[in-house]
Amino acid sequence: MKKEEILSNLEFDISDIVLLDSVTSTNDYLKKLALNGAKDGTIVIAKSQTKGKGTKGRTFISKEGGLYLSILLKPDFRAFDATLITPLTAVAVSETIAQISGKTPQIKWVNDVYLEDKKVAGILCESSIDSAGKTAYLIVGIGVNLIKPKGGFDDEICDIATAVFEEENTEIFSQFVSALINNFYNFYAQIDNKTFLEKYRRQNFVLGKEVLVLNNNQTLTAKAVWIDDNCRLVVELPDKSLKTLSSGEVILKND
Ligand code: BTN
Repeated sequence: MKKEEILSNLEFDISDIVLLDSVTSTNDYLKKLALNGAKDGTIVIAKSQTKGKGTKGRTFISKEGGLYLSILLKPDFRAFDATLITPLTAVAVSETIAQISGKTPQIKWVNDVYLEDKKVAGILCESSIDSAGKTAYLIVGIGVNLIKPKGGFDDEICDIATAVFEEENTEIFSQFVSALINNFYNFYAQIDNKTFLEKYRRQNFVLGKEVLVLNNNQTLTAKAVWIDDNCRLVVELPDKSLKTLSSGEVILKND
């Protein structure tokens, strides 16, 4: 993966791209850069991570073959709701996988991308709040299992994880990164119009399904019925009442 190859295919001006072989976590690395004044649009990419972070304090296993990328955003957060960034990113990832591989990914509310019923990518957005309670910056962390790792996935994830490609392909990384950055910034530039939202709804495979909702240490059985305009999941409880979730995790009941 070469910086020039990535930059030459970008449709947007970004501040800088830092390419690393291995890092603890691209999110943590970028956080340090942000504290040292890195500009909006700085991107860190690594071939592997030793302490990749997932949502809810989980580890994100990050072997070679995957793409681990973080984008620094420092916009005026009063202008829009930062919680839209995770679903927007999920659509950007899903569209990129479709463009590059011809496959049809799906999204699992709120931040997972799936291929053929297995997880292929995850997103971890982390924000920093300043002393006035405003979001100072946002780090958008994206992990994609682009190529199946040599020796396969680790035992704990081999039944639930998949990769976009089975075979090593050296050119695919730069192509994928350029397309991903283009797709991300395309949706981000139009965040006020929420152009990603219809795709987010259409690609979400939880809608209409019976799910278990893990929310605030509670597990609820419910039916996922809708994703509202703020990307919150609306579920119907057994007593037919509706509950709107802005965070949490859903598991399909038959899984
Ligand atoms: C999840 O599926 O739980 C979210 C996974 C997010 C992983 C990405 S990889 C790049 C960035 N750096 C991290 O440590 N995590 C995110």
